[in-house]
Amino acid sequence: MSGVVEPRVQVLLDPDWASGSLVDDVRRGLGGRPRRLPPKWLYDDVGAGLFDEITRLPEYYPTEAERAILAAHAAEVAEACDASTVVELGSGTSDKTRTLLDAFRDPGRSHGPVRRFVPVDVSDATLRQAATMLSERYPGMAVEAVVGDFTLHLAHLPRGDRRMVAFLGSTIGNFYLEERHAFLGALADSLEPGEWLLLGTDLVKPLDRLVAAYDDSAGVTERFIRNCLTVVNRELGADFDPGAFSYVPFWDPRMERVDMRLRAEEPQVVTVPGAEIVVELGTGEEICVEISTKFRPEGIAAELAEAGFAVERTWTDADDDFALTLARRT
Ligand code: SAH
Ligand code: AVI
Repeated sequence: MSGVVEPRVQVLLDPDWASGSLVDDVRRGLGGRPRRLPPKWLYDDVGAGLFDEITRLPEYYPTEAERAILAAHAAEVAEACDASTVVELGSGTSDKTRTLLDAFRDPGRSHGPVRRFVPVDVSDATLRQAATMLSERYPGMAVEAVVGDFTLHLAHLPRGDRRMVAFLGSTIGNFYLEERHAFLGALADSLEPGEWLLLGTDLVKPLDRLVAAYDDSAGVTERFIRNCLTVVNRELGADFDPGAFSYVPFWDPRMERVDMRLRAEEPQVVTVPGAEIVVELGTGEEICVEISTKFRPEGIAAELAEAGFAVERTWTDADDDFALTLARRT
Protein backbone atom coordinates (compact mmCIF):
# COMPACT_ATOMS: atom_id res chain seq x y z
CA MET A 1 0.00 0.00 0.00
CA SER A 2 1.42 3.39 -0.95
CA GLY A 3 -0.91 5.41 1.31
CA VAL A 4 -1.67 7.70 -1.66
CA VAL A 5 -5.33 8.76 -1.84
CA GLU A 6 -6.71 8.19 -5.33
CA PRO A 7 -8.13 11.29 -7.02
CA ARG A 8 -11.90 11.50 -7.25
CA VAL A 9 -13.10 12.03 -10.82
CA GLN A 10 -16.56 13.42 -11.50
CA VAL A 11 -17.75 13.28 -15.11
CA LEU A 12 -20.15 16.08 -16.05
CA LEU A 13 -19.90 15.54 -19.81
CA ASP A 14 -22.56 13.25 -21.29
CA PRO A 15 -21.19 9.88 -22.45
CA ASP A 16 -21.97 10.90 -26.05
CA TRP A 17 -20.63 14.47 -25.59
CA ALA A 18 -17.91 14.12 -28.21
CA SER A 19 -20.49 13.27 -30.84
CA GLY A 20 -23.69 14.87 -29.44
CA SER A 21 -22.47 18.36 -28.61
CA LEU A 22 -20.19 18.35 -31.65
CA VAL A 23 -23.27 17.84 -33.88
CA ASP A 24 -24.74 21.16 -32.70
CA ASP A 25 -21.42 22.96 -33.05
CA VAL A 26 -20.83 21.55 -36.55
CA ARG A 27 -24.37 22.38 -37.73
CA ARG A 28 -24.20 25.90 -36.35
CA GLY A 29 -20.51 26.54 -37.03
CA LEU A 30 -19.91 24.90 -40.40
CA GLY A 31 -23.45 25.38 -41.71
CA GLY A 32 -23.32 29.20 -41.26
CA ARG A 33 -20.90 31.98 -42.10
CA PRO A 34 -18.23 32.77 -41.10
CA ARG A 35 -17.53 29.05 -40.87
CA ARG A 36 -16.31 28.37 -37.37
CA LEU A 37 -15.56 25.52 -34.96
CA PRO A 38 -15.22 26.02 -31.17
CA PRO A 39 -11.64 25.39 -29.99
CA LYS A 40 -12.62 22.79 -27.40
CA TRP A 41 -12.70 20.25 -30.27
CA LEU A 42 -8.95 20.66 -30.70
CA TYR A 43 -8.24 18.69 -27.54
CA ASP A 44 -8.83 15.01 -28.27
CA ASP A 45 -5.90 12.80 -27.15
CA VAL A 46 -3.87 13.70 -30.25
CA GLY A 47 -4.64 17.43 -29.87
CA ALA A 48 -3.80 17.44 -26.16
CA GLY A 49 -0.42 15.85 -27.02
CA LEU A 50 0.19 18.42 -29.76
CA PHE A 51 -0.64 21.28 -27.38
CA ASP A 52 1.86 19.86 -24.92
CA GLU A 53 4.46 19.90 -27.73
CA ILE A 54 3.52 23.51 -28.53
CA THR A 55 4.30 24.57 -24.97
CA ARG A 56 7.89 23.41 -25.51
CA LEU A 57 8.44 25.14 -28.87
CA PRO A 58 11.08 27.88 -28.87
CA GLU A 59 8.65 30.31 -30.56
CA TYR A 60 5.80 29.70 -28.09
CA TYR A 61 6.76 32.04 -25.24
CA PRO A 62 3.48 32.17 -23.15
CA THR A 63 4.03 28.97 -21.15
CA GLU A 64 7.55 29.88 -20.03
CA ALA A 65 6.57 33.48 -19.34
CA GLU A 66 3.71 32.40 -17.09
CA ARG A 67 5.92 29.76 -15.47
CA ALA A 68 8.48 32.49 -14.67
CA ILE A 69 5.78 34.65 -13.04
CA LEU A 70 4.62 31.71 -10.94
CA ALA A 71 8.17 30.81 -9.95
CA ALA A 72 8.80 34.38 -8.78
CA HIS A 73 5.41 35.21 -7.24
CA ALA A 74 3.42 32.08 -6.32
CA ALA A 75 4.21 32.64 -2.63
CA GLU A 76 2.78 36.19 -2.85
CA VAL A 77 -0.36 34.84 -4.55
CA ALA A 78 -0.81 32.22 -1.83
CA GLU A 79 -0.34 34.85 0.87
CA ALA A 80 -2.59 37.48 -0.76
CA CYS A 81 -5.45 35.05 -1.10
CA ASP A 82 -7.13 33.16 1.74
CA ALA A 83 -8.57 30.33 -0.38
CA SER A 84 -8.56 26.75 0.89
CA THR A 85 -9.82 25.20 -2.37
CA VAL A 86 -8.14 25.83 -5.73
CA VAL A 87 -10.23 25.16 -8.84
CA GLU A 88 -8.35 25.13 -12.14
CA LEU A 89 -10.30 25.59 -15.38
CA GLY A 90 -8.83 24.08 -18.56
CA SER A 91 -6.19 22.52 -16.35
CA GLY A 92 -4.61 20.24 -19.00
CA THR A 93 -1.46 18.67 -17.53
CA SER A 94 -1.54 21.11 -14.53
CA ASP A 95 2.19 21.31 -15.08
CA LYS A 96 2.72 24.97 -14.07
CA THR A 97 0.06 24.61 -11.38
CA ARG A 98 2.44 22.57 -9.25
CA THR A 99 4.40 25.75 -8.51
CA LEU A 100 1.19 27.39 -7.36
CA LEU A 101 0.12 24.43 -5.24
CA ASP A 102 3.58 24.18 -3.66
CA ALA A 103 3.08 27.74 -2.42
CA PHE A 104 -0.50 27.11 -1.28
CA ARG A 105 0.69 23.99 0.62
CA ASP A 106 3.72 25.69 2.16
CA PRO A 107 3.71 25.12 5.95
CA GLY A 108 4.53 28.82 6.41
CA ARG A 109 1.39 30.04 4.62
CA SER A 110 -0.52 32.15 7.11
CA HIS A 111 -3.94 30.96 5.86
CA GLY A 112 -2.98 27.29 6.30
CA PRO A 113 -2.53 24.78 3.48
CA VAL A 114 -4.98 24.47 0.61
CA ARG A 115 -7.06 21.37 1.35
CA ARG A 116 -8.63 20.63 -2.01
CA PHE A 117 -7.70 20.96 -5.69
CA VAL A 118 -10.36 20.73 -8.41
CA PRO A 119 -8.91 20.49 -11.93
CA VAL A 120 -11.54 20.86 -14.67
CA ASP A 121 -10.98 19.87 -18.30
CA VAL A 122 -12.77 18.34 -21.30
CA SER A 123 -9.73 16.22 -22.05
CA ASP A 124 -10.51 13.12 -19.98
CA ALA A 125 -7.23 11.19 -20.28
CA THR A 126 -4.99 14.24 -19.71
CA LEU A 127 -7.06 15.25 -16.70
CA ARG A 128 -6.96 11.79 -15.09
CA GLN A 129 -3.22 11.56 -15.58
CA ALA A 130 -2.67 15.00 -14.04
CA ALA A 131 -5.03 14.23 -11.13
CA THR A 132 -3.12 11.04 -10.30
CA MET A 133 0.22 12.87 -10.49
CA LEU A 134 -1.07 15.59 -8.13
CA SER A 135 -2.56 13.10 -5.66
CA GLU A 136 0.83 11.46 -5.41
CA ARG A 137 2.65 14.75 -5.03
CA TYR A 138 0.30 16.17 -2.37
CA PRO A 139 -0.85 13.24 -0.19
CA GLY A 140 -2.64 15.52 2.30
CA MET A 141 -4.69 17.34 -0.35
CA ALA A 142 -7.96 16.06 -1.81
CA VAL A 143 -7.91 16.05 -5.62
CA GLU A 144 -11.45 16.17 -7.03
CA ALA A 145 -11.12 16.24 -10.80
CA VAL A 146 -14.07 17.25 -12.98
CA VAL A 147 -14.37 16.14 -16.60
CA GLY A 148 -16.45 19.10 -17.69
CA ASP A 149 -16.91 22.01 -20.06
CA PHE A 150 -16.20 25.41 -18.52
CA THR A 151 -18.69 27.00 -20.91
CA LEU A 152 -21.47 24.78 -19.52
CA HIS A 153 -20.63 23.51 -16.05
CA LEU A 154 -19.45 26.42 -13.88
CA ALA A 155 -22.59 26.23 -11.75
CA HIS A 156 -21.89 22.55 -10.99
CA LEU A 157 -18.40 22.97 -9.57
CA PRO A 158 -17.83 21.93 -5.94
CA ARG A 159 -18.75 24.59 -3.38
CA GLY A 160 -17.83 25.07 0.26
CA ASP A 161 -14.50 26.38 1.56
CA ARG A 162 -13.26 29.64 0.14
CA ARG A 163 -12.33 28.99 -3.50
CA MET A 164 -9.79 30.44 -5.88
CA VAL A 165 -10.44 29.74 -9.55
CA ALA A 166 -7.23 29.63 -11.57
CA PHE A 167 -7.64 30.14 -15.32
CA LEU A 168 -4.10 30.01 -16.63
CA GLY A 169 -2.29 29.88 -19.95
CA SER A 170 -4.35 32.76 -21.44
CA THR A 171 -7.02 30.25 -22.40
CA ILE A 172 -9.45 33.14 -21.87
CA GLY A 173 -7.99 34.56 -25.10
CA ASN A 174 -9.51 31.68 -27.06
CA PHE A 175 -13.04 33.04 -26.53
CA TYR A 176 -14.57 35.47 -28.99
CA LEU A 177 -15.27 38.86 -27.37
CA GLU A 178 -18.96 38.28 -26.65
CA GLU A 179 -18.24 34.75 -25.36
CA ARG A 180 -15.53 36.12 -23.10
CA HIS A 181 -17.89 38.62 -21.52
CA ALA A 182 -20.54 35.93 -21.04
CA PHE A 183 -17.94 33.57 -19.55
CA LEU A 184 -16.63 36.14 -17.05
CA GLY A 185 -20.19 37.01 -16.05
CA ALA A 186 -21.07 33.34 -15.54
CA LEU A 187 -17.86 32.81 -13.57
CA ALA A 188 -18.69 35.75 -11.30
CA ASP A 189 -22.22 34.37 -10.83
CA SER A 190 -20.79 31.00 -9.83
CA LEU A 191 -18.59 32.50 -7.08
CA GLU A 192 -19.50 33.91 -3.67
CA PRO A 193 -18.46 37.47 -2.79
CA GLY A 194 -14.90 37.34 -1.48
CA GLU A 195 -13.88 34.30 -3.54
CA TRP A 196 -10.94 34.62 -5.93
CA LEU A 197 -9.91 34.49 -9.57
CA LEU A 198 -6.30 34.05 -10.75
CA LEU A 199 -6.24 34.87 -14.44
CA GLY A 200 -3.33 34.37 -16.85
CA THR A 201 -3.33 36.62 -19.92
CA ASP A 202 -0.92 36.97 -22.79
CA LEU A 203 -0.13 40.63 -23.50
CA VAL A 204 -0.05 42.59 -26.77
CA LYS A 205 3.48 42.70 -28.14
CA PRO A 206 5.34 43.19 -31.45
CA LEU A 207 3.77 41.41 -34.38
CA ASP A 208 6.72 39.21 -35.35
CA ARG A 209 6.82 37.37 -32.03
CA LEU A 210 3.05 36.98 -31.92
CA VAL A 211 2.82 35.48 -35.37
CA ALA A 212 5.89 33.23 -34.90
CA ALA A 213 4.30 31.77 -31.75
CA TYR A 214 1.38 30.52 -33.88
CA ASP A 215 3.32 29.69 -37.05
CA ASP A 216 6.25 27.71 -35.67
CA SER A 217 8.96 26.41 -37.93
CA ALA A 218 8.38 22.76 -36.92
CA GLY A 219 4.72 22.98 -38.03
CA VAL A 220 3.31 21.69 -34.72
CA THR A 221 0.69 24.46 -34.44
CA GLU A 222 -0.44 23.74 -37.99
CA ARG A 223 -0.95 20.05 -37.09
CA PHE A 224 -2.77 21.06 -33.91
CA ILE A 225 -5.23 23.29 -35.83
CA ARG A 226 -5.66 20.79 -38.70
CA ASN A 227 -6.45 18.03 -36.18
CA CYS A 228 -9.95 19.47 -35.64
CA LEU A 229 -10.94 18.13 -39.10
CA THR A 230 -9.75 14.66 -38.09
CA VAL A 231 -11.91 14.93 -34.95
CA VAL A 232 -15.01 15.74 -37.05
CA ASN A 233 -14.17 12.87 -39.42
CA ARG A 234 -13.82 10.39 -36.56
CA GLU A 235 -16.77 11.49 -34.42
CA LEU A 236 -19.29 12.30 -37.15
CA GLY A 237 -18.09 10.14 -40.07
CA ALA A 238 -17.20 13.23 -42.15
CA ASP A 239 -14.92 13.02 -45.17
CA PHE A 240 -12.77 16.12 -44.75
CA ASP A 241 -9.42 15.79 -46.50
CA PRO A 242 -7.19 17.71 -44.05
CA GLY A 243 -4.47 17.89 -46.71
CA ALA A 244 -6.75 19.91 -49.00
CA PHE A 245 -6.60 22.86 -46.59
CA SER A 246 -3.76 25.26 -45.94
CA TYR A 247 -3.09 26.73 -42.52
CA VAL A 248 -3.52 30.51 -42.37
CA PRO A 249 -2.49 32.25 -39.14
CA PHE A 250 -2.61 36.07 -39.08
CA TRP A 251 -2.72 38.99 -36.66
CA ASP A 252 -5.95 40.99 -36.58
CA PRO A 253 -4.80 44.45 -35.37
CA ARG A 254 -8.32 45.75 -34.76
CA MET A 255 -9.34 42.91 -32.44
CA GLU A 256 -5.77 42.41 -31.20
CA ARG A 257 -5.87 38.69 -31.76
CA VAL A 258 -4.14 35.96 -33.72
CA ASP A 259 -6.65 34.27 -36.00
CA MET A 260 -5.98 30.66 -37.00
CA ARG A 261 -7.86 29.44 -40.05
CA LEU A 262 -7.94 26.57 -42.51
CA ARG A 263 -8.35 27.60 -46.16
CA ALA A 264 -9.75 25.29 -48.83
CA GLU A 265 -7.19 25.05 -51.62
CA GLU A 266 -9.73 23.63 -54.08
CA PRO A 267 -13.55 23.40 -54.25
CA GLN A 268 -14.80 20.76 -51.84
CA VAL A 269 -18.04 19.00 -51.01
CA VAL A 270 -17.74 17.54 -47.52
CA THR A 271 -20.37 15.16 -46.20
CA VAL A 272 -20.91 15.08 -42.43
CA PRO A 273 -23.35 12.15 -41.91
CA GLY A 274 -23.41 12.46 -38.11
CA ALA A 275 -24.67 16.04 -38.38
CA GLU A 276 -26.76 15.35 -41.51
CA ILE A 277 -25.17 18.22 -43.42
CA VAL A 278 -23.13 18.70 -46.54
CA VAL A 279 -20.61 21.54 -46.48
CA GLU A 280 -19.67 23.06 -49.81
CA LEU A 281 -16.49 25.09 -49.80
CA GLY A 282 -15.22 27.18 -52.69
CA THR A 283 -11.52 27.69 -53.36
CA GLY A 284 -10.16 30.14 -50.79
CA GLU A 285 -13.05 29.67 -48.35
CA GLU A 286 -11.91 29.52 -44.75
CA ILE A 287 -12.88 27.79 -41.53
CA CYS A 288 -12.08 29.83 -38.39
CA VAL A 289 -10.71 27.26 -35.97
CA GLU A 290 -9.24 29.35 -33.17
CA ILE A 291 -8.47 32.88 -32.11
CA SER A 292 -5.94 33.88 -29.47
CA THR A 293 -6.70 37.36 -28.19
CA LYS A 294 -3.91 39.36 -26.58
CA PHE A 295 -4.58 41.75 -23.72
CA ARG A 296 -3.58 45.09 -22.20
CA PRO A 297 -3.48 45.46 -18.39
CA GLU A 298 -6.04 48.30 -18.35
CA GLY A 299 -8.42 46.27 -20.54
CA ILE A 300 -8.20 43.24 -18.24
CA ALA A 301 -9.06 45.33 -15.17
CA ALA A 302 -12.00 46.97 -16.96
CA GLU A 303 -13.43 43.67 -18.17
CA LEU A 304 -13.05 42.08 -14.76
CA ALA A 305 -14.74 45.06 -13.08
CA GLU A 306 -17.63 44.87 -15.51
CA ALA A 307 -18.08 41.18 -14.68
CA GLY A 308 -18.01 41.76 -10.91
CA PHE A 309 -14.36 41.29 -9.94
CA ALA A 310 -11.95 43.78 -8.35
CA VAL A 311 -8.27 43.43 -9.20
CA GLU A 312 -6.09 43.02 -6.09
CA ARG A 313 -2.65 42.40 -7.62
CA THR A 314 -1.05 41.97 -11.04
CA TRP A 315 2.32 40.37 -11.73
CA THR A 316 4.19 40.29 -15.05
CA ASP A 317 7.38 38.59 -16.22
CA ALA A 318 10.61 40.53 -16.77
CA ASP A 319 9.79 41.16 -20.45
CA ASP A 320 6.14 42.14 -19.84
CA ASP A 321 5.05 39.33 -22.13
CA PHE A 322 2.41 37.87 -19.85
CA ALA A 323 0.29 38.94 -16.86
CA LEU A 324 -1.11 37.09 -13.89
CA THR A 325 -4.00 38.91 -12.24
CA LEU A 326 -5.46 38.15 -8.84
CA ALA A 327 -9.00 39.47 -8.53
CA ARG A 328 -11.75 39.12 -5.97
CA ARG A 329 -15.47 38.62 -6.51
CA THR A 330 -17.11 41.80 -5.25
N1 SAH B 1 -3.95 25.49 -18.43
C1 SAH B 1 -2.96 24.78 -19.22
C2 SAH B 1 -3.57 24.21 -20.52
C3 SAH B 1 -4.01 25.24 -21.52
S1 SAH B 1 -4.57 24.46 -23.03
C4 SAH B 1 -1.81 25.70 -19.51
O1 SAH B 1 -1.84 26.84 -19.06
O2 SAH B 1 -0.85 25.27 -20.16
C5 SAH B 1 -6.30 24.66 -22.85
C6 SAH B 1 -6.90 23.57 -21.99
O3 SAH B 1 -8.29 23.86 -21.84
C7 SAH B 1 -6.82 22.17 -22.62
O4 SAH B 1 -6.40 21.25 -21.65
C8 SAH B 1 -8.24 21.90 -23.09
O5 SAH B 1 -8.58 20.52 -23.06
C9 SAH B 1 -9.05 22.70 -22.12
N2 SAH B 1 -10.34 23.17 -22.63
C10 SAH B 1 -10.57 23.80 -23.81
N3 SAH B 1 -11.88 24.14 -23.90
C11 SAH B 1 -12.46 23.71 -22.76
C12 SAH B 1 -13.79 23.76 -22.25
N4 SAH B 1 -14.76 24.34 -22.95
N5 SAH B 1 -14.03 23.26 -21.02
C13 SAH B 1 -13.03 22.67 -20.28
N6 SAH B 1 -11.76 22.57 -20.73
C14 SAH B 1 -11.48 23.10 -21.94
C1 AVI C 1 -4.70 27.26 -24.87
N1 AVI C 1 -4.44 28.50 -25.58
C2 AVI C 1 -4.22 29.60 -24.64
C3 AVI C 1 -3.41 28.43 -26.63
C4 AVI C 1 -3.14 29.84 -27.20
O1 AVI C 1 -1.99 30.26 -27.19
O2 AVI C 1 -4.09 30.51 -27.61
C5 AVI C 1 -3.84 27.48 -27.72
C6 AVI C 1 -2.92 27.46 -28.88
N2 AVI C 1 -3.31 27.46 -30.14
C7 AVI C 1 -2.26 27.42 -30.93
N3 AVI C 1 -1.16 27.43 -30.17
C8 AVI C 1 -1.56 27.44 -28.88
